[in-house]
Amino acid sequence: MKILLTGGAGFIGSHTCIELIKAGHKAVIADDLSNSKPAVLERLKELTGQDIPFYNIDVADKEKVDSMFAKENFDAVIHFAGFKAVGESVAKPLMYYRNNLDTTLTLLEAMAKYNVNNFVFSSSATVYGVPERVPLVEGMKTGCTNPYGWTKLMIEQILTDAAAADKNLSVVLLRYFNPIGAHPSGRIGEDPTGIPNNLLPYITQVAIGKLPQLGVFGNDYPTHDGTGVRDYIHVVDLAKGHVKAIEYADKNKGTEIFNLGTGIGYSVLDIVKAFEKANDIKIPYVIKPRRDGDIAECYADPTKARDVLGWQAEETLENMCKDSWRWQSNNPKGYEE
Ligand code: UFG
Repeated sequence: MKILLTGGAGFIGSHTCIELIKAGHKAVIADDLSNSKPAVLERLKELTGQDIPFYNIDVADKEKVDSMFAKENFDAVIHFAGFKAVGESVAKPLMYYRNNLDTTLTLLEAMAKYNVNNFVFSSSATVYGVPERVPLVEGMKTGCTNPYGWTKLMIEQILTDAAAADKNLSVVLLRYFNPIGAHPSGRIGEDPTGIPNNLLPYITQVAIGKLPQLGVFGNDYPTHDGTGVRDYIHVVDLAKGHVKAIEYADKNKGTEIFNLGTGIGYSVLDIVKAFEKANDIKIPYVIKPRRDGDIAECYADPTKARDVLGWQAEETLENMCKDSWRWQSNNPKGYEE
């Protein structure tokens, strides 16, 4: 299939691009590089041996999206592009709703016009809100605690309604848990702007000496050691889930939702210890107050993805920690070398 990857220069998009090409598909990237670097495209060429067509466009721009669709003859779209910082979304909700919803609507309109019928969406476990219980199963109650999460849930609804109205449309909603790690080559990985919000990039920047110590947000949660528990998944496993999802969409109409997680919950201190052991580096940390909006525990029941997509996470936590560190230590300034 020929697949449009919006946000294909980002962390998850770039890893998915490699796995799609490995599986024999063709990838085209549309990205405005607002949160990614052009160097990613050179690295993707180096890793895949292919010149991946690239459109430096905002996918909310109807005219540019239309002319791209007119030229490319896509079979499918994977929509990664979107604003994704929880705190920023609280401060600038309209910017989040405008951007995340507009891009999706523009893509859906272009897809209808050019008869492109397969859509895979980057959703998030954040749509489960404060979970009633764990592990999380796809049918459980949803609800969000911040505008970023609401954009994900609203887009899930828009896509579900679009697929109900258009019997040719296939939609797969992928609810990601916590992607970490990097490509084993150490050539592509996560390159956050400024001080990282997420745990693993923070740890790797402490490891490289860019940040003095990790702040652990709360040690009084009802978990085995008091720190927050999450389902960390290797980004390459996550990328492989997209290959299965796009192939599923091509064969099945309507909407399906899948959790992409490992099913295992690790605490913040479990991650610190695993990183230290895997890489033989000490990570100094201090306990800080809880972070607003955080929940105690969040991990997936990944059974549906296994049974229906034939996909399962395979990488160990040790490899996730090693690959995160290889990327950071080989690229101390991210893509800015
Ligand atoms: N944490 C720290 N210190 C830090 C950063 C994080 O202790 O410096 C802790 C958090 O409190 C949490 C865990 O590490 O317990 C993971 O935090 P992340 O910020 O890495 O990830 P979240 O689970 O908060 O958020 C992720 C994605 C969001 C998504 C959310 C829910 O980043 O986009 O999962 O699916 F919305």
